[in-house]
Amino acid sequence: MKKFIATDVTDTPEKMRQMAEAQKSKRGFGMDPYFYRSHITYQKELDSILYKSWLYAAHVSQVPNPGDFIQYELGEDAIIISRDQDGEIQAQYNICRHRGSRVCEEKSGNTRTFVCPYHGWVYNLDGSLRAAREMLALEDFNAADYGLKKPQICVFHGLIYINCNPDAAQLAPDLLAIEPAIRGYDLANAKVIESRVYRVDANWKLALENYVECYHCATAHRAYAKSHTLKEPYENVKALNEAMLARAEDQTGVAGVATKVNQVFNDNPHHGGGAYTSRYALYDGYLTGSQDGQPVAPLMGEYKGYDGGAGDYQIGPLSSMLNYPDHCVLYRFTPRSLTETDMEIVWFVRGDAVEGKDYDVDKVTWLWHRTTVEDEFIIRRNSEGVNSRFFEPGPYHPEHEETLMRFIAWYLDTLTNDIRQ
Ligand code: FES
Ligand SMILES: [Fe+2]
Repeated sequence: MKKFIATDVTDTPEKMRQMAEAQKSKRGFGMDPYFYRSHITYQKELDSILYKSWLYAAHVSQVPNPGDFIQYELGEDAIIISRDQDGEIQAQYNICRHRGSRVCEEKSGNTRTFVCPYHGWVYNLDGSLRAAREMLALEDFNAADYGLKKPQICVFHGLIYINCNPDAAQLAPDLLAIEPAIRGYDLANAKVIESRVYRVDANWKLALENYVECYHCATAHRAYAKSHTLKEPYENVKALNEAMLARAEDQTGVAGVATKVNQVFNDNPHHGGGAYTSRYALYDGYLTGSQDGQPVAPLMGEYKGYDGGAGDYQIGPLSSMLNYPDHCVLYRFTPRSLTETDMEIVWFVRGDAVEGKDYDVDKVTWLWHRTTVEDEFIIRRNSEGVNSRFFEPGPYHPEHEETLMRFIAWYLDTLTNDIRQ
């Protein structure tokens, strides 16, 4: 049963600021319940994080032909990603420039134009205004002034990122560093074979905090923990990792595949961008992230073989990838309300792989579907405890929960505006 959270009617921006300042001095401890239940804080997060960060919107294979479109819903908003008649990828807000109605109803599809259901203004696939009943005849009406508004866009190896902040620093320069590690998957020519949204009844930070630590992996994810070494303190699996890193280039055939980059949160020169990558080992006998560790799809892109490793990536603050030699798994976190978060998983295989012959969707999705259902359970339980008035935050583990602490530090700076834009 869904539980409602009683919010504080005396909450103010000043209180939020004081709480954030006080929290900063408690580095190493979990956050006060306030940050998970304050409406003022949530609005500030939308303004300063969601609508100011580079966010994964879609993949080019989801809009392969002119006229194809797919919507990305975030917070209270919706963005249409489309491919125009010239084959260019476009991103625009689903908001009519007349009086603000949504202009596109379907979540995805193919169309020649977007027609507003209210008074019938018509927009081209690139967002330009094509017709506005009886308005075009008016002397002071210029159609060029009323195209659909657009967020910034960056297409990186077929992954489409958007940023609602017109002044945000470009994402592409931040991604140069992870280029050698991600190039080998040839994601521009990969295809999405499945995408699922797992709605979790929890504040978005609880979902993200859970994703960026693997302290819980050994207890909450038995299947994942059997094959992935990330749950261990590094010292315990150092030899396994070093052996994998030593053979990675030779066995995958991808130069630079083991490149390490750690420029996220406050270590990125720009707010809301940044990139991270590292390669870590699977246990002996596991070639990929599948039920039995055996391949579930043909090798991606340039890959020539299996090295017993998996590539971990983060681009922007709210999306990550875990890429195996034969398939890639993208994770996206989207706040939908103070107490609801969409966790979305997108599975990719190489573009020319054939379903039923080269791969089976159930086998490719087995591990991360299962792991995410387990996460949904623990995050929901976490949310219930954290929102209790009797909760007192405990200490983080300095190694296992290190990334989580970096996220919290960046997050608190964001709330108090002590950040680079
Ligand atoms: S609100 Fe879209 S045409 Fe009027
Ligand atoms: Fe998890």
